[in-house]
Amino acid sequence: MSKGTIRKGDGMNQILLEVENLSKHYTLRKDLLSPKTVIKAVDHISFSVYEGETLGLIGESGCGKTTIGELILRLNKRDTGKICFLGQDIAAIKEIEMRKLRKDMQIVFQQSQETLDPKAAIGELLAAPLRLHRIVPEDEIEGEVVRLLNLVGLQPQDQHKHTYQLSGGQKQRVGIARAIASRPKFVICDEPVSALDVSVQGQILNLLKSLKQELGLTYLFISHDLKVIQHICDRIAVMYKGKIVEIGSAAELIQNPKHEYTKKLMQDLL
Ligand SMILES: Nc1ncnc2c1ncn2[C@@H]1O[C@H](COP(=O)(O)OP(=O)(O)OP(=O)(O)O)[C@@H](O)[C@H]1O
Ligand SMILES: [Mg+2]
Repeated sequence: MSKGTIRKGDGMNQILLEVENLSKHYTLRKDLLSPKTVIKAVDHISFSVYEGETLGLIGESGCGKTTIGELILRLNKRDTGKICFLGQDIAAIKEIEMRKLRKDMQIVFQQSQETLDPKAAIGELLAAPLRLHRIVPEDEIEGEVVRLLNLVGLQPQDQHKHTYQLSGGQKQRVGIARAIASRPKFVICDEPVSALDVSVQGQILNLLKSLKQELGLTYLFISHDLKVIQHICDRIAVMYKGKIVEIGSAAELIQNPKHEYTKKLMQDLL
């Protein structure tokens, strides 16, 4: 496989993100006299994400899903491996270049409100990334905020509200609006519906689906829930204890799971 260059996949689109031999281990010790324990959060993982697809990353709690997201966005430092986004190794580039790339790589968290300042009005929260990445001139920011609110199914007057005045689903819509504000190519969705009522989960998944179409996005969609993953993903990577044990098209993987852990996951669907 080519290292940093973009190539055509088999009948698929171009590679947007290529992860090669990525590892992140933590060494923990209860106290100075206790032996060290090594946690292999991410253990020599390789995979690609193709432009325009939704790649699901599924696995049990603690298997390393969030760590992969953090490493890709350089919110966490890798031990080994390469992460090429549009042909650039993001672990090797300078911070100033990384800042430019961050415009194209965004994240939606499980609990958006934890990352949203409760003192700021929704309009301010959405204006911040527009200013940071100079998406529109200053006199167009208000209009752009309204456009973003519309895109995620909120009302123009919601710009004056604060997060504590919104429902869980509405907060998640604000988190999504903030992620798409910089007009990214790639969005990591880390358990974006896990904290929501089942009835609201479907609405947010449908919103993410339609935004993907409308804005030409590519997703890495992290979840521990196969019912959610199968609803939205084109391909699925199954993670177990820091490794990807199986990767394939969603239909293929669900109909014909090969790894023992994937087979166990399928039983939850029945
Ligand atoms: N800063 C850290 N220091 C030590 N260990 C860590 C750190 N961050 C994560 N870990 C460990 O790394 C492993 C992977 O964690 P991670 O958060 O990536 O899992 P996850 O698959 O996202 O789990 P969940 O589904 O619960 O969100 C876990 O064992 C976790 O305890
Ligand atoms: Mg996680």
